[in-house]
This record gives sequence, C-alpha cells and structure tokens, in this order.
Amino acid sequence: MYQLNYRSQARNEFQTEDLDAILSTANSKNAALNISGCLVFHNGYFVQILEGKKEDVIELFEKIKADDRHHNISLLGENSIEQAYFPEWNMAYYEPNDQSVRHFVYNMISMAELSDKSTQSLQTFWAEVRKVLLGG
Ligand SMILES: Cc1cc2nc3c(=O)[nH]c(=O)nc-3n(C[C@H](O)[C@H](O)[C@H](O)COP(=O)(O)O)c2cc1C
Repeated sequence: MYQLNYRSQARNEFQTEDLDAILSTANSKNAALNISGCLVFHNGYFVQILEGKKEDVIELFEKIKADDRHHNISLLGENSIEQAYFPEWNMAYYEPNDQSVRHFVYNMISMAELSDKSTQSLQTFWAEVRKVLLGG
C-alpha cells in the first residue's frame, strides 16, 4: 500500500457547500476504491493524507491536483505502508464553526502529539496539521 500527504489553499470563493460536495464525493469514491485518509480544512488551508493501492492513490491525486477549488498544492510526503493508518476514515475533519474552534484545535493538537509518526507522510501530515491549526 501507499500513502501520500499534501497541503493546498482553497480558492477565495470557496464555501462550506463546496466542502460538503467534496466530502460526499470523497466518501463514495474513496470507499469504492478502498482509499482511506483524512482531510483537514482550517483557515483556508487543506491538509490531506490519502492511502490505498498506489495506482489508485496517484490517479486520485492527479484528479485532486486538477481541481480548481484549490491551488498552491504541495506534495509533502509519500511512502509505502504495510497497512492503512486511517482504515475507518474517508474524511475525518472539516472546518468547525467558531464556537467549537478552540476545542477542535485542542483535540487536533493532542492527536498530533500522540499519533503514530512512523512514516514520512504521517510526520508531514501531523506537522502540517499543527501548523495550519496554530496559524490562525
Ligand atoms: C481539497 C480536496 C480534496 C479532495 N479529496 C477527494 C478525495 O479524497 N476523494 C475524491 O474522490 N475526490 C476528492 N476531491 C475531489 C476531486 O478533485 C474530484 O472532483 C472528484 O474525485 C470527482 O472526480 P470525477 O468527477 O472525475 O470522478 C477533492 C477535492 C479537493 C479540492
């Protein structure tokens, strides 16, 4: 199996409805392809980790890179893995409303600190999540 992690920036006009649309496509398509992972959206930044069969993940990433709802896409890490790290999750998080933001940030930072960082993609994913969440 294979895992990759990237960061990108939402276009200015990006709306909550766009995120709903991405999550619903991702949930059905990723499940069909046996791709799992986690998407974080905060302060206009996306950080996503994808894992699955190498060809499928690369093909999906090519599609995602061509998606005009975001830009400045940078690949942060890629590596092979023995088993999926997020087997239960297609998409785990999205931008919380203002009230829950502090709680959300706290939970994510704790998770970042406690999580397994045994692969390059996991390391860059959690480091980037931390940066994005603390950034604003
Ligand atoms: C930040 C971001 C993350 C995305 N993540 C996924 C994903 O995990 N799975 C997915 O199928 N599509 C994802 N998409 C949507 C794809 O870019 C694409 O629109 C979708 O796969 C539908 O492609 P298709 O119409 O060619 O089947 C994402 C888009 C963005 C902007």
